[in-house]
Amino acid sequence: MMVVLIGYMGSGKSTVGKVIAKKRGMGFIDFDDYIEEKEQLTIPEIFKQKGEIYFRKQETAYLSVLLKEKPNAVISLGGGTPCFGNNMDVVVEATQNVFYLKLSVEKLVERLQAEKEHRPLIKDIADIDLSDFIRKHLFERNFFYLRSHHIITVGDETPQGISEKIEKKLV
Ligand code: S3P
Repeated sequence: MMVVLIGYMGSGKSTVGKVIAKKRGMGFIDFDDYIEEKEQLTIPEIFKQKGEIYFRKQETAYLSVLLKEKPNAVISLGGGTPCFGNNMDVVVEATQNVFYLKLSVEKLVERLQAEKEHRPLIKDIADIDLSDFIRKHLFERNFFYLRSHHIITVGDETPQGISEKIEKKLV
């Protein structure tokens, strides 16, 4: 069984993914980590040294490889992964277990303000502008995110609580 978690930066995809994988004895792959290992650079280094277009090309190329390579795993994608090229088509065709972790803009701002530094897309955005940026960005990205098989609304639940909601829907 393959489980794919998608959602905006800071939505808890990796934390929740690890909980599900552990409970079910499955492997877990964080797609950002996978790309970093393949490229032998961190995500901020890739953005800085090679640019976002290079990153997006590699992201699309590695996505198909990973989905073929790991049919039995929980996979957390990068926040932008579903939103470029035909990536979302590839993801929804690979498994029926695609989950969008949906958080409010307020909650995302709260989480991301504290950890902007290692996130190339938001590191240069002033705190005061972050909320507007996320609102607009999410509006564009929702078109892709909402193609998930399931939408999991995340409020104040623990990662365990969220993983239970997801596990009930696995096929
Ligand atoms: C990105 C999200 C990041 C990472 C890169 C770009 C995005 O992943 O892939 O910085 O476009 O939203 P996380 O969502 O895991 O932070």
